[in-house]
Amino acid sequence: MAGAIARWFNERAPGLGVMYRKHLTEYYAPKNFNVMYYFGSLAMLVLVNQILTGIFLAMFYKPSALEVFPGTSEAFASVYYIMRDVDWGWLIRYMHTTGASMFFVVVYLHMFRGIMYGSYKRPRELVWILGMLIFLVLMAEAFMGYVLPWGNMSYWGAKVIISLFSAVPVVGETLTHWIMGDFNPGDATLNRFFSLHVVALPMVLLLLVVLHLAALHEVGSNNPDGVEIKKHKNERGIPLDGIPFHPYYTVKDLFGVGVFLLICAFVIFYAPGMGGWFLEHDNYMPANHLVTPAAIKPAWYFTPFYAILRMIPNKELGVLALLLSITLPFLLPWIDRGKVKSVRYRGVLYKWALGLFALSFICLGLLGGEVTHEAIPAIFGPNVDVTTVDNTFGRFWVAVYFGFYLFLWVYTYFGFEKTRPVPERVTTHD
Ligand code: HEM
Repeated sequence: MAGAIARWFNERAPGLGVMYRKHLTEYYAPKNFNVMYYFGSLAMLVLVNQILTGIFLAMFYKPSALEVFPGTSEAFASVYYIMRDVDWGWLIRYMHTTGASMFFVVVYLHMFRGIMYGSYKRPRELVWILGMLIFLVLMAEAFMGYVLPWGNMSYWGAKVIISLFSAVPVVGETLTHWIMGDFNPGDATLNRFFSLHVVALPMVLLLLVVLHLAALHEVGSNNPDGVEIKKHKNERGIPLDGIPFHPYYTVKDLFGVGVFLLICAFVIFYAPGMGGWFLEHDNYMPANHLVTPAAIKPAWYFTPFYAILRMIPNKELGVLALLLSITLPFLLPWIDRGKVKSVRYRGVLYKWALGLFALSFICLGLLGGEVTHEAIPAIFGPNVDVTTVDNTFGRFWVAVYFGFYLFLWVYTYFGFEKTRPVPERVTTHD
């Protein structure tokens, strides 16, 4: 039966079979993928989840800042209608909000894996650049989604972030009003963010993901040893260290999916707000342009970049540093001149630098999320000046974050790196 169906399709669309073989059964992936290689397929899973749950949310959500009753917009009310009255609405919404945060967990680990194993290096520069474009679009997508419930943090978050455009010389102010469609975030802002969030950006994301995978499958996957498996092929031209993606990695990835879904289910059913990290406390209140939240801070996945902005005392320079912190990774393939890909065989100083870089990202995230506001008095006593301590730590970690890129360039450009011998073939480490 299955064979007959396959033949039926093959006669009418022979290209489909070619694609199936090229990307699945005859795509030879290195046999030494480790746990860090789960995150690409998990990112695809979350993308599908966001689109499917998003479709159902859009059936009940109303992108309107107009008041249904005093102090509450139609948008805010429609979200609570979904939570309380729509059958299974709470589940669909929590799957979407948890999905948003898990998307960033997965993508950050996916990116870190790329850096650890030098997957951005030749010949995979294009895979990396497409990945970085995905990351930028994902940030825009998440930011606009956060505005949609029109809670108080949606409103103030939108105001702060859109106002960053006023740092652009000459046209800044006009640009800010043009983006908002008003002098403050309002109904026009909500309508256009809805349109971009549900139609334009998901389409761009899907297209970029297809290109990302197409680019990867042209050159083939890297691996934890950072060796090119295409260098050693058998007489049929198949890499000696490669195994067909399907069925081997489809089955392995399914295991990853199982574990991942268990974790997500725990969050969705037991801690959907994750103590204010996945769903901000201030966003349970409707938008109010007269009441500023005690601390305006973005969702956790933006806090490292937000901390960089805040730690620089000059507005224009702060915005520039923020932009630089997000765009510098684009240049990694050219900043890092080292010949050895995987961290396993790189110089000791590189290992330390990479560790510190990851730590700087986490510490900046905690600072940007204002965790330190409570932690600092607890550690240093009640009389300490929180802002001074916050800024001292913050600026130190900003220096470490940018220092990583500078160090990497100097270390590899001037040939200071003492690497270990890279094996000819993959090692299995079992
Ligand atoms: C929606 C987001 C994304 C999806 C669905 C996605 C999907 C994938 C998949 C399925 C793979 C192959 C499996 C694997 O190596 O894990 C992959 C590989 C890769 N991705 Fe992504 N990706 C996304 C975002 C990113 C981002 C933001 C970056 C970095 C800027 C990135 C960089 C890479 C690199 C360098 C590889 C090759 C890794 C290697 O061969 O070692 N991806 N991606």
